[in-house]
This record gives sequence, C-alpha cells and structure tokens, in this order.
Amino acid sequence: MSCTVIVGTQFGDEGKGKVVDYYGQDADIVVRYNGGANAGHTVIVGAERFAFRLLPSGVLRPDKTVVIGHGVVIDPDLVLAEIAELRQRGVTPATIYVSDRAHVVMPYHKALDGIEETLKGSLRAGTTRRGIGPCYSDKVARFGIRVCDLLDEEVLQAKLDAFLPIKERVFAAYGEAVKLPLEPLKATCLRLGAQLAPYVTDTITFLNDALRQQKRILLEGAQGTHLDIDYGIYPYGTSSNAVAGGACTGAGIPPPQITQVIGVVKAYTSRVGEGPFPTELEGQLGEYLRERGGEYGTVTQRPRRCGWLDLVMVKYALRVNGVTSIALTKLDVLSGLDAVKVGVAYDYHGQEVTAFPANMRVLAECQPVYETLEGWGEMARTTWRRVVDEGYEALPQACRRVIEFIEEATGVPIRLISVGPERALTLRRDA
Ligand code: IMP
Repeated sequence: MSCTVIVGTQFGDEGKGKVVDYYGQDADIVVRYNGGANAGHTVIVGAERFAFRLLPSGVLRPDKTVVIGHGVVIDPDLVLAEIAELRQRGVTPATIYVSDRAHVVMPYHKALDGIEETLKGSLRAGTTRRGIGPCYSDKVARFGIRVCDLLDEEVLQAKLDAFLPIKERVFAAYGEAVKLPLEPLKATCLRLGAQLAPYVTDTITFLNDALRQQKRILLEGAQGTHLDIDYGIYPYGTSSNAVAGGACTGAGIPPPQITQVIGVVKAYTSRVGEGPFPTELEGQLGEYLRERGGEYGTVTQRPRRCGWLDLVMVKYALRVNGVTSIALTKLDVLSGLDAVKVGVAYDYHGQEVTAFPANMRVLAECQPVYETLEGWGEMARTTWRRVVDEGYEALPQACRRVIEFIEEATGVPIRLISVGPERALTLRRDA
C-alpha cells in the first residue's frame, strides 16, 4: 500500500500536472481533493496536449481509477464536457468517480464571484471568476448544493426553495436586480445530475476500501500552498486547502495512511493574480522567464508574474506539508542565463526575516536577500534528452550546483527533476 500526496509549494502552476502524470504510472487510483475549475493542468503525451480543469491527470490511463473527492467544488457540465472531449479524441479514459458529497458550483456563484471581486477593489485576489470563493463560502455557511442533491428532487427542491430567495437578497444588497427562477434552475440541476449519475459514488468508502486492499493511491492538490485558504497569502489566495492536509479533509484519507508527500518546486516563481510577491522580476528578466516558461494562465490565459525562486516561501511550504521529497520542475527554463538567483531570506527594514510573515503589509515591504549562483549555457531539447538518458551526473556542473544548493538549503531531497513538458524529459534521482 502507498498513499502519496503531491502538492504545490508556491502559487500553483509549478508543473504538478506532469509530476502527477509521472508518478501516476505507479498508482492504481489518482484523486483530486480541492479546488475546482480554477485549476488547469496540462499533460503532453507525444504530440497530443491535454488540458484539464476538473479531471485528475491520471484520467488518460485506462487501467486507472480517478476520483474527484468531496473537497472539490464541481461544475457538472464541465466534468461532463471534459469526459466527452476525451472520448471524442479517441482516449479510453480511466474509471471516473465523483464524490456524492462534493459541492456544486451554481450559476449564481459565478455571478457573485465577479461582483464581489469588483467591490473588493485593491483587496481583490484576481480570481478566475469560476465561482470558487462563493461556492466554498456557501459550503461553510451551509447554503450549499451537493452532488447527491442533484440526484434527489425532493432535497434539491427544498434547498432551492430556501436558498434562492436569500441569494436574490444578496444580489439586491449588492445593487443587482437578479432573479433566480426556481424551475429552470432545478430542471438544469436534475438534468446534469442524471448525466453525472453513472460517475457518482461514495468516494470516501471507495478510497478507504482501496486502502485496505493495499491499492496505490496518488492524491493531487490543485493550486499551491501560498494560495491555500489557511496557509496562503490571505486574502490573495483561493478558498480551499491546497496543502497535504487537504487530502484528509477533502478526500477522506485518514492522516496516518499518508506514506509520502511530494512537494513540487518550480525552479523560479510565478503567480497569476494579485498580492505581494517578494522575488518578482518586473523588467526584461521577468519577461524572459514568462516567455521561456510559457507562463500564461491555463484557465484565464492571463500573463503570469514571474520572479526568482524564493526559498523562504518554499521552506514554509515544505514544513506545513511535511514534504518528504521534492520534484523540481522547469529547470530548463533557466538555461542560458549568466547567473541564477535564489532568494534565501527577506530584509524587512534592516531586519532579517526567515519565517514567512502573516501580515501582507510586512510581506509587501520585504526585500529578498539573494544567493547568486553561476548559470549554465543554452541547451537544446535534444541535449536535455541525452542528459536525461545518461543520468544526473551528465547535467552541467552549474546546473547540479543549483539543485544541490536547494537541497542543502531546504534539507529535503530532490528526487525528480523535470526539464521539459514531455514525459520523456524527466530525470529520476532515487535515494
Ligand atoms: P479563485 O481560486 O478563482 O477564487 O482565485 C483566487 C486566486 O487564486 C487568484 O489569484 C487566482 O489567480 C489564483 N488561482 C486559482 N487557481 C489557480 C491555479 O490553478 N493556478 C494558479 N493560480 C490560481
């Protein structure tokens, strides 16, 4: 039995999709436990590019089972569209299960996301406007519609009867005259429920049975630690628990069953959306990373803000997730630079800060303290491919130095190194 959690240690977009796909080869079951259609992960297989927002990446392997856990908020029509697209493209997907306890993103959640973002002014997170925050707010405030409700007209009717007039009052308070007629919404919910029904199951029981049967389970966190509702840069993050603990609360995995936690660290930092970002590079270098790294949002296509690797941020993430090994991604993006900088501390008005600050004003006023390492030359994809075939020692010495510097600074082994989007451009470095 193994139960591995894969988490992002930065702002999401660390390249988790590829890492999950890679480790997914060894898993029987791949599970998503948080977030919703705000996440976008891309997997490239041969000449084919697949982008998913809700389905776990393991869905491309027909011998696997993929699970959307109850911690995820679901757009039923989007899940159904992603499944339909796979079939259209000739992929026989994995067995797909959707939790009966997962909350449903309703059309009014998306509308509220937009309105609330506008009203928040400078405190807006720059959300993906997929209704994520309002859906999780409703879950916590007990206004939520769950997947199981889509399969039960009586419960659905009772909830919509009670909740829709309240939602209309919320819109009115925001100065929006929105009418939410019950019948068409109920009809849509029931139609989507009927279409989703073949996939709906009690995923908590399924996963706990699988643990007893010694199955290998891989859990993927969407987004990253610094977008997590509790650990992230508040209020600029998302509304769910992206950290490894989310695998327990969002999929029903008992904490002692988790056998390893892989933290995905991108060799530099990027973020989409608002909020403090100490190692951000605004000039040419930021542009260089964005272009070479293809740093544009998978869901919204927004250009991502880019900067150097920030180990204050990463070390905090490694700690709160209990990371047992690191998967270092997009190292190839740094080739061709004269020097590679790594943030090792912050300077807050002359005071050295190594613990990640809670206060967003303090964080915004922190200046990064860098260690400057030697760069290595430009490397063509074919050269990377040869290096990967030959193994770790074939990497340029300066490149190995960067890897070993991160290991020494964090005290966590780097066991996987990704140097390109394809599956083949992955270097495994086992203990
Ligand atoms: P929301 O999750 O759509 O509410 O957006 C909240 C914040 O999280 C915004 O800054 C988004 O840009 C960011 N965000 C949400 N999902 C992702 C993701 O998968 N990758 C990167 N950033 C994300």
